[in-house]
Amino acid sequence: MALDVNGRTRKVALDPRVTLLDALRDHLGLVGTKKGCDQGACGACTVHVDGKRVLSCLTLAAQCEGRAVTTIEGLAGPEGPHPVQAAFLEHDGFQCGFCTPGQIMSAVALLEEGRAGSDEEIREYMSGNLCRCGAYPHMVAAIREVASGSGRGAGA
Ligand code: FES
Ligand code: FES
Repeated sequence: MALDVNGRTRKVALDPRVTLLDALRDHLGLVGTKKGCDQGACGACTVHVDGKRVLSCLTLAAQCEGRAVTTIEGLAGPEGPHPVQAAFLEHDGFQCGFCTPGQIMSAVALLEEGRAGSDEEIREYMSGNLCRCGAYPHMVAAIREVASGSGRGAGA
């Protein structure tokens, strides 16, 4: 099958039961997307499909043929990191970093969904992404900064 990942068409021979998560990590070498629970409970595997966030552990690769998949590797542009990536760095939005790619993919989607009106709203719409290290306050601060348009590179 052919998968459109980060703007590039990738041909892969996959069993129809292979998840998008395993296709990305094991077949395309895109290991930025993390496998946490592999059961839809932690958000570590969050990617975008046609601009919407999905849990790649619960999505079959075959369901994504003809759709645009974006992973953490595809978020930065030629001008540098995505504003959310820059804000996470600035605010220490991670500790061990394992949950970070999924958190950032969710945060980017949340901002596009217009769900960053308040800290409570940010927490609510980020609640599917778990962080064992408890870096939540820093993540909220990073997202709030991008939402307010005051982050480095905001508006890019
Ligand atoms: S690995 Fe997909 S939700 Fe945990
Ligand atoms: S930064 Fe370690 S799990 Fe979130």
